[in-house]
Amino acid sequence: MSESSVRFVDRSGAGAPELTRWSPLVIPKEQIEDQVKRLAGAPAPANGRRSALFVHPESKEPGLGLAPGIRVALDVLLPGERTQPIRHNSAQVNFCIQGAGHSVVAGKTIRFTQYDVWIHPSLATYSHFNDTREIQVRLTYSNAPLLEKMMIHYVEDTPPAEEAATEREAEAGSAAASPFPDLIRLDDDGTTLMSYERLINPEAVEQRPLHWPWARVKAELDKLAVLGKGYIGRRLYLLYNPATGRTNGTTNNFFAAITIRPPSINDKPHRHSSAAINYFFGGTGKSIVDGKTYYWKAGDLMLTAPGWAIHNHSSNNEPVYELTIQDQPLNLAMDSLLWQEDLRHPPRLLGSHKGFSTNRRVAAKS
Ligand SMILES: [Fe+2]
Repeated sequence: MSESSVRFVDRSGAGAPELTRWSPLVIPKEQIEDQVKRLAGAPAPANGRRSALFVHPESKEPGLGLAPGIRVALDVLLPGERTQPIRHNSAQVNFCIQGAGHSVVAGKTIRFTQYDVWIHPSLATYSHFNDTREIQVRLTYSNAPLLEKMMIHYVEDTPPAEEAATEREAEAGSAAASPFPDLIRLDDDGTTLMSYERLINPEAVEQRPLHWPWARVKAELDKLAVLGKGYIGRRLYLLYNPATGRTNGTTNNFFAAITIRPPSINDKPHRHSSAAINYFFGGTGKSIVDGKTYYWKAGDLMLTAPGWAIHNHSSNNEPVYELTIQDQPLNLAMDSLLWQEDLRHPPRLLGSHKGFSTNRRVAAKS
């Protein structure tokens, strides 16, 4: 076969291929601690980044990840260390699981401590610093796997100094008035033509580095404990970035949500096309995923819900805290977010069809 020829794959009369998915996976606390020790014990790399990826056994290059679209890295900094500046067109959610320090993201200093969450927007230059006497350990969640699969993950190891905002604005405002309209409606349904000028200058929604300190989140989260056992929703807060608009994101790709699960709470099985990765940092419990039971405890990381796998989680006799990362905003943006909240009823396409409701009003009173 000539390497420049297209390959035709006959699909005539073919049915849809069967949906497959990666297996759920628990990475126990002890395994994470071993990696932290290994990273801390190695000589400091030139770029300062002591880092290891959690790679699912079914993940293949390009785009290694713990879920097909989610990469999780374990990042360690020793006291006094810092990382060299870097920037890329993947966006990150950072989560401190041990120690403290600060990050400088797009010129903003974010002082963080254990269980704080903060985001690095796409193309923001950042460095991490450990100005404490303790080891600093972070989990970093990134959409790099998708960009690597698309072969467009752009990384600058030596980024230029920050471009002045006024320069960007001056350039954006320089478009001369066009003799042709930017938008031409073809019918009343919305079928429209758009000019090239609008195509290359879409509305810019600034993505800022945001920081959710654990103390502030926990104070709000603990109030949800009053929701009685009869509550059918999840006792969580999504760490919402308003710049993600209707896709309810923390970044444009992921939401990060922190859940409190009081003792002996057993969620109803459900499923969604978004994949979910949990880090548990309080209590113990189990998850039933695709009919198989997985046990976890504080300090474990888990691919809890590969996209479309039926799952539910239960806490044992103490409260559970967990950080969940899901690629839900990406699915909302693609209009692919199927969600089946009750397995007795058909799934709904969240974002463009009507969603679900809970009994929170009633449960809060009981
Ligand atoms: Fe779920």
